Amino acid sequence: MSGRLHGKVAIITGGASGIGAAMVTRFAAEGARVLFTDLASQQTAAESLARNLGNAVIFRVGDVTSASDCNHAVSTACELFGPPTVLVNNAGTAIVGGVEELSEDDWDRQFDVNVKSVYLMCRPVVPLMRKAGGGSIINIASESAFIAFPMHPAYCASKAAVLHLSRSLGVRYAADRIRVNALCPGTIDTPLYRSFLSKQADPDAVHKMVLAMHPLGLGTPEDIASAALYLASDESRYVTAAPMHVDGGSTAM
Ligand SMILES: NC(=O)c1ccc[n+]([C@@H]2O[C@H](COP(=O)([O-])OP(=O)(O)OC[C@H]3O[C@@H](n4cnc5c(N)ncnc54)[C@H](O)[C@@H]3O)[C@@H](O)[C@H]2O)c1
Repeated sequence: MSGRLHGKVAIITGGASGIGAAMVTRFAAEGARVLFTDLASQQTAAESLARNLGNAVIFRVGDVTSASDCNHAVSTACELFGPPTVLVNNAGTAIVGGVEELSEDDWDRQFDVNVKSVYLMCRPVVPLMRKAGGGSIINIASESAFIAFPMHPAYCASKAAVLHLSRSLGVRYAADRIRVNALCPGTIDTPLYRSFLSKQADPDAVHKMVLAMHPLGLGTPEDIASAALYLASDESRYVTAAPMHVDGGSTAM
């Protein structure tokens, strides 16, 4: 590794599993100091990941739907490492079901975890980045921001909201040299995808359909971590308010 994030302090939400864990690992290997959060239910996996990566990586339990947990994660990163210059809003959930099946609570939870969380994390981070002279905020959106999957309309709507929120924040904070981008993965083989499949009436048929939609097949968490690394680094200094498609070609189909 070549130290592409040397000197950076990164906060990554939902870092215990899948894409988040790949980003924690890659960012640390590239020289960043990383604080990552996740739910208490992921504590064992998260602590083991942090232990394997050494002193530059710290885990804190934190629910991204809780303002106090978000504020606490940011203040802990400041105390231990200094002000964050990279924030990755990665934590997410995918609630399956059409509008007739979804409860109001499901709908609210989908938007709280995927969208409100971006606001709750950006709120304490933006003033710190402004004071530090800039930073990079990476919001993990999805191909679902562009493709109208019929199985999970609330998820699709939440990711479209993350995309547009990223655009608005990117324009708003450009003068502060705070870049905000939406990284839009295709289908990536993670626990989230496996859980999505398990809720389908015919998981094999859905998996075949998903494969057929991706000219390059399914992606890996490392594919997304590589793109996030570029957005976190100064190599992307002229990129803001933009979607970055890392989807094996799905959105071109
Ligand atoms: N896997 C895919 O195909 C895919 C495609 C496009 C976008 N994404 C997005 O990528 C991101 C990561 O997904 P993944 O596939 O790695 O899933 P994953 O389930 O493997 O990891 C998500 C992590 O977020 C954590 N999380 C969930 N709710 C949380 C909360 N309230 N507070 C804190 N942490 C919470 C989970 O505990 C988990 O560790 C999500 O935003 C997801 O929507 C995934």
